[in-house]
Amino acid sequence: MGSSPLATRPPFRRWAHLVLFTITFVYILFHSSTFISSAFSQSSPQEFARRSQILSKCAYIRAKPGPPPNFHTRTQSDRLADSENTTPILVRNATIWTAANDGHEVLTGDLLMHHGLIKAIGDIPLSLIRQFELKNRKLEVIDVHGAWVTPGIVDLHSHIGVGSAPQLNGAGDTNSRKAPILPWLRSIDGLNTHDASYELAMAGGVTTAQILPGSANNIGGQAFIIKLRPTAERSPSSMLLEPPYTLNGSHFDHTLTPRWRHMKSLTHSQGENPSRVYGMTRLDSGWNFRAAYDSARKLRDAQDDFCAKVESDSWDDLAGKIFPEELQWESLVDVLRGRVKLAVHCYEAVDLDGIVRLTNEFEFPVASFHHAGETYLVPELLKKTWGGTPAIALFASNFRKKREAYRGSEFAPRVLAEHGIDVVMKSDHPVVNSRYLLHEAAQAHYYGLDPALALLSVTYTPATAMGMGHRIGMLKPGYDADVVIWSSHPLSLASTPAQVYIDGIPQLSLPGHYIAKGPTTPPRTPNFDSEKVAAVVHEGIPPLEPRSVKSAIFVNVSRLYVRGDDSSGVMCVSEQAGLVGVEDGRVVCVGQCSDFAEGDVDTVNLEGGAITPGLTSFGAPLGLVEIRLEPSTNDGSVHNPLNGDLPAILGDTIMRAQDGLMFGGQNLLLAYHGGVTTAITAPSGTFLQGVSTAFSPGAAHASVENASVVDEVALHVGISMSSRVGVSTQVAALRNMLFGRGRDEVLRSVRKVSLSSCIELTLISIVDVESADIMATLLRLKDEYEAHSGRELRMTFAGATEAHIIAHEIARAGVSVIVTQSKPYPSTWEQRRILAGPPITQESLVTALLKAGVNVGIGVVDESNARNTRFEAGWFLFTSNGFIDRTTALALATTNLEKALGIQREMPQDLVAYRGGDVFEFEAKAVGVISETLGRIDLFV
Ligand SMILES: *[C@@H]1O[C@H](CO)[C@@H](O)[C@H](O)[C@H]1NC(C)=O
Ligand SMILES: *[C@@H]1O[C@H](CO)[C@@H](O)[C@H](O)[C@H]1NC(C)=O
Ligand SMILES: *[C@@H]1O[C@H](CO)[C@@H](O)[C@H](O)[C@H]1NC(C)=O
Ligand SMILES: *[C@@H]1O[C@H](CO)[C@@H](O)[C@H](O)[C@H]1NC(C)=O
Repeated sequence: MGSSPLATRPPFRRWAHLVLFTITFVYILFHSSTFISSAFSQSSPQEFARRSQILSKCAYIRAKPGPPPNFHTRTQSDRLADSENTTPILVRNATIWTAANDGHEVLTGDLLMHHGLIKAIGDIPLSLIRQFELKNRKLEVIDVHGAWVTPGIVDLHSHIGVGSAPQLNGAGDTNSRKAPILPWLRSIDGLNTHDASYELAMAGGVTTAQILPGSANNIGGQAFIIKLRPTAERSPSSMLLEPPYTLNGSHFDHTLTPRWRHMKSLTHSQGENPSRVYGMTRLDSGWNFRAAYDSARKLRDAQDDFCAKVESDSWDDLAGKIFPEELQWESLVDVLRGRVKLAVHCYEAVDLDGIVRLTNEFEFPVASFHHAGETYLVPELLKKTWGGTPAIALFASNFRKKREAYRGSEFAPRVLAEHGIDVVMKSDHPVVNSRYLLHEAAQAHYYGLDPALALLSVTYTPATAMGMGHRIGMLKPGYDADVVIWSSHPLSLASTPAQVYIDGIPQLSLPGHYIAKGPTTPPRTPNFDSEKVAAVVHEGIPPLEPRSVKSAIFVNVSRLYVRGDDSSGVMCVSEQAGLVGVEDGRVVCVGQCSDFAEGDVDTVNLEGGAITPGLTSFGAPLGLVEIRLEPSTNDGSVHNPLNGDLPAILGDTIMRAQDGLMFGGQNLLLAYHGGVTTAITAPSGTFLQGVSTAFSPGAAHASVENASVVDEVALHVGISMSSRVGVSTQVAALRNMLFGRGRDEVLRSVRKVSLSSCIELTLISIVDVESADIMATLLRLKDEYEAHSGRELRMTFAGATEAHIIAHEIARAGVSVIVTQSKPYPSTWEQRRILAGPPITQESLVTALLKAGVNVGIGVVDESNARNTRFEAGWFLFTSNGFIDRTTALALATTNLEKALGIQREMPQDLVAYRGGDVFEFEAKAVGVISETLGRIDLFV
């Protein structure tokens, strides 16, 4: 400070300045460690600027992320571009589940949205509504007649955009395979804006997703949160929700409140994800983590030392030094600083234990454990995680594909909740199609999770676990206007959005058009108390063998359905059965059962439930696959003659599934508990797969009398664009097999099996085919063959995703279709023309084919999903707008299917008793099988 300016000032001011100077000087003497001291005691303005920058950076790196202090006074969403400024919308007469009050608040009334935010909710004063009308000239009013309204569904674990559909090699950007530790990678760098899944997921009410890198690495990289709606800018960056400032580099305003960052980390084991890629074991993994966190810790400590000197004004010690930074490790340093919502993919107790130890060694928190198959077995361990118990993100029933997933349980959400641990249901899209994420929560509810917690598990709980609970996952004024209007109570089966708003912008073009209203109250779910206890006691592998008895009496039975004869499908034979007596696998009396010596026989109360034909499972490798990724537990796949690798000893053999069957597996017995009384399984393979077999999942082994229902069901052939050989080559091979015109050596040997005769005389050929073009080619081939031979070629299409495009041609050719994707998804190019179903299109594939006059059956492809066949059929029933009734829905998974396979005459009259409701309902639970096949009654209670 120079003295001349002071000298020109009046005496009083000079005096005042002197006092001020003295005070400042004294202050500096006593507080030499403060910022002010250095600012005043130091030299150039550049140096001053540099030092204050470093000071604010030192403050920033230790600040806790979160919304800035004035966040809740915002009047407009930061996510809206100018061109996206919306008209205000008033949703009237809604039943609003807000997520507030631990998921217990339900308001009846209205919801007002504008500028991307919720403005008012519940009982909105007319004066406020008028105000909006006046100010904006326009107010869109939608009366929803009491429909349920919830916050948008939030997916804590998705690969949407990075593992996109249809799958093309140029779009497989989920992972890097360059190294196991890659915290510097970012999922946003691979986000494909053209993934067909955005539209589909929004049609299921999903509005926000955390995009995690894939699971090939121990640390896979940084995750980002996006909203799924299309943006005006059409860029990945414009889809982001509250991205961290580090997105654009390290030069940003460090006085801002930091935002949450996100990262994915994985433990694993021999034979499982990262180890498949890098040939590592759990032991390698453990060290990878410790080495990486040690690097990050050293950098953090260096930063802290540097900042300690800065803050104690020891600038001399820092001469020539710069703030310690390493771009590779900065994100992991933020993990150690507790500024990252870390998602850890971790299944088994051994892996969870390793991670909990790691968090305590390096002192960092975990936001969520994902997949987390065994978390329900070790709740006390979870509570030892440094920094607090993470949320647990689960699938509802998708288990057993790997050793680490083998002990997963449908009761895990309930068990964890009973230990006071936060439960999240997640999709891992495309593993579970995220369009049906709410269905994961509905299943968790079915298996006993409290209804409020089930709804929270896909809204506010994941929103909080991703650090976004201040703006999404809940409906209240000031929150983002992400809102879904549902066709029925959101926990009822097949609840479907009538409209979805993201940032206050409607996303469905034909709101509510295609949806019939469903139940408005949550389902009264069955009692699974003893199953829950058994799951924990037996560590995920409870004994599932039924208790077999000779006879039983079912009381309080409502309807009784049976398989009719050839033409009649399934029939309801009694509307109010009351008592149903059964003996040796047959119904012996209905209503009047006085011959039954009560006391001698088991009495099972169905509490108004129904008895319906046992379902037939088709498409899943039940009995051939136990743990899909563990070859020693499976039958393995058959050789493809088109690959030229057929061992000489096999010659012209066609493989039979019956030869590889294994009984007593978890998937098989759970399917039996789910009402599946016949499993039809084909050998696993591509092109010439082999001959399928039909058997009883309830048989203990293959030698049980009548364990096999039909030894040889059909010959299975697959024609696919995803095969190593071209479609025209596959079709040529099929033609040669039919006409005996093979030239190539392999084909000649295949022909020698007299395949054609086997197709003509005994077996229907099932062609696994997705593309409408390939189906058209096959119909032509069928014509050709029939014209040439004068004999019928019996053919059924399975899969058939695009069949709606040629539905009438298929009907005319008398070809049946087995739909194996009840929840359509365009995984591959040849499936891209899906019929999405309500709320996107009026028809589903099944209704479109039925309307064209095609015989339609349904199947499931995933062995762990076979148990859910009843809900898959129910999905068609409840979304068909009344076109499908209960007997038709039953026929889809029984008589229609059997007709498509040509075995309807051979099918036994196996029946399943459901307590509390009927086969398609979340109210019901299968309690027994009346097995004509096995000549006995199998009870599950
Ligand atoms: C709300 O909708 C229900 C069901 O349609 C109807 O009974 C009720 O009268 C409506 N209430 C108002 C205030 O419009
Ligand atoms: C990143 O840069 C873009 C383009 O300049 C800007 O629109 C965006 O707000 C920045 N994001 C962050 C988080 O700083
Ligand atoms: C049958 O069960 C239903 C549902 O639990 C119950 O409401 C009804 O009273 C029962 N009927 C008889 C006759 O017990
Ligand atoms: C096996 O099936 C045959 C033919 O349907 C039947 O006669 C026999 O009783 C069945 N065996 C048992 C144990 O049910």
